[in-house]
Amino acid sequence: MNIIITGGAGFIGSNFVFHMLQTHPEYRIVCLDKLTYAGNLSTLEPVMENGNFRFVKADICDRAAVYQLFEEEHPDMVVNFAAESHVDRSIENPGIFLETNIMGTAVLMDACRKYGITRYHQVSTDEVYGDLPLDRPDLFFTEDTPIHTSSPYSSSKAAADLLVLAYHRTYGLPVTISRCSNNYGPYHFPEKLIPLMIINALHDKPLPVYGDGLNVRDWLYVEDHCRAIDLILHKGTVGEVYNVGGHNEMKNIDIVKLICRTLGKPESLIQFVTDRKGHDRRYAIDPTKIHRELGWLPETKFADGIQKTIQWYVTHEDWWQPIVSGEYMAYYEKMYGNR
Ligand code: NAD
Ligand code: DAU
Repeated sequence: MNIIITGGAGFIGSNFVFHMLQTHPEYRIVCLDKLTYAGNLSTLEPVMENGNFRFVKADICDRAAVYQLFEEEHPDMVVNFAAESHVDRSIENPGIFLETNIMGTAVLMDACRKYGITRYHQVSTDEVYGDLPLDRPDLFFTEDTPIHTSSPYSSSKAAADLLVLAYHRTYGLPVTISRCSNNYGPYHFPEKLIPLMIINALHDKPLPVYGDGLNVRDWLYVEDHCRAIDLILHKGTVGEVYNVGGHNEMKNIDIVKLICRTLGKPESLIQFVTDRKGHDRRYAIDPTKIHRELGWLPETKFADGIQKTIQWYVTHEDWWQPIVSGEYMAYYEKMYGNR
């Protein structure tokens, strides 16, 4: 089995590369990644010398480069993690989100049609369903919940999902889609809530909580997401969408306070700042389908996963220090300077 994993130098993609090389040591894994600000080749260092692994720096929007890779590798499957993934950046500059998340997906699927594959898997997000009200804890996103997006990011991911389903219906491309809730764990880029708060707290810097801090996200340890995608690739039904989530809803403010407590930092570091535009209130996944049909269940409890994650950042300053001291700081200044 030869699998192209796009976006494998990012957070979830790199965890998936590690998972696949470990779980299926006989598979060939080819990582295609543009190495944007969010891609980090040092993350993949432990597998660079693995004979079953190849890294290729390329843009999924670059048709010639993608086709060339297909001619060289003849992949059986493609798993597309490559995306612009940060909601706040999409509010500042939607254009690149449309290019990568929509056009890039089309280029990959065109290559799949041209060269033939047994599966194209699209890594999507629960954000395509929009949000749920805080006062209706009985409501959850199912695979049948209508698409109803809030941000340029989620709109671009929803557009990609519709395109994937259209390629299945129109051309018979063997596709699957997973829509997962918020992931956390090692190698999470420090612009996202959990790593940003850990790293700021370690530096005794202010912890910028948007709005009232009561927004709810449904957190899943990244390895559980990787196992879900692995299962979908091997046992999922072509043409189907699978929601992935672990029924672990947390208010943002409670996560930030937990990080403060764990690191022995005062809650006085918390600063409530201007809310995100169009800020989704609550996400909550109903994972019944993937449990019933594929037997998937999350293995890591949030109480354990968050401690592991905090400890990982404490002991891996060598990974995040070059990021927070480089280009990312210009972004940080722009986003939080006058907030
Ligand atoms: P990330 O931003 O950490 O990584 C994205 C990776 O894609 C980077 O390595 C980047 O270099 C690469 N990339 C970006 N544009 C590219 C292009 N044009 N060509 C090739 N490579 C490109 O993202 P992540 O958080 O790991 O998310 C991965 C996928 O999972 C995304 O599709 C995202 O929408 C989805 N997702 C994320 C979460 C989450 O909580 N982080 C939850 C559900 C779904
Ligand atoms: O639900 C899945 C999605 O989760 C993925 O599709 C996205 O790629 C991923 O980035 C994530 O989106 P969110 O917007 O939920 O994640 P983020 O870490 O940016 O924010 C989580 C919550 O924390 C959100 O309510 C906004 C809030 N927040 C975030 C930051 C960066 C703050 O209060 N302060 C911050 O500084």
